[in-house]
Amino acid sequence: MPKCSVFIATSLDGFIARKNGDLDWLPGSDGASEAQDYGYKSFFESIDVLVLGRKTYELAASHPQWPYAEKPVVVLSSRYPRAFQSVSHTVEGTSLSPRELLAVLESRGSRNVYVDGGRTIQSFLRDRLIDEMTLTRVPVLLGEGIALFGAIGRDVKLRHVSTTAFPSGFVQSKYEVDNGV
Ligand SMILES: NC(=O)c1ccc[n+]([C@@H]2O[C@H](COP(=O)([O-])OP(=O)(O)OC[C@H]3O[C@@H](n4cnc5c(N)ncnc54)[C@H](OP(=O)(O)O)[C@@H]3O)[C@@H](O)[C@H]2O)c1
Repeated sequence: MPKCSVFIATSLDGFIARKNGDLDWLPGSDGASEAQDYGYKSFFESIDVLVLGRKTYELAASHPQWPYAEKPVVVLSSRYPRAFQSVSHTVEGTSLSPRELLAVLESRGSRNVYVDGGRTIQSFLRDRLIDEMTLTRVPVLLGEGIALFGAIGRDVKLRHVSTTAFPSGFVQSKYEVDNGV
């Protein structure tokens, strides 16, 4: 199976967006370039395909500039092919399960997959398909919003790899996921 990675920013209280999906608390989310990229560019270069939840895709598609350049993007939606619009020749939709999708990606030669979107990450975790996670905590408490993590139905054990504190106050931790297989 291809290696699946998460690279995501959260508030200190674990939210990836406000309730309405807003990312205004996240510097750089408006597309403005930040002095520091927190390792995103080199991570992005290391992956060969993105798997996005439909909601994360819709947000990306609403940006004036498509954020994923020429990387192939697969969008998960139970509504595919109904109500799915591809905004780029690099984007395809699917209603496959995460495991079925990874088998297809493997058959195409994909080795490194970037999984993004809160519910999407949770479902990949539930199916023991996430291999590593890089979480960047932004020093803000939102109090409420869209949570990165939720009930999985079992404990998910993680191995801490590294933590870097940036002068901006962002704290980035990398974990490997023990999928017990
Ligand atoms: N802070 C960050 O770095 C960061 C990164 C990424 C996203 N975000 C934010 O997170 C929010 C979206 O996250 P989210 O958790 O609400 O949604 P999401 O994971 O992006 O999308 C969820 C949708 O994906 C579809 N889906 C199909 N198969 C799925 C599966 N196996 N597991 C889960 N979803 C599946 C469903 O669409 P259908 O309803 O069409 O079936 C589901 O409603 C946005 O506001 C985005 O801006 C923040």
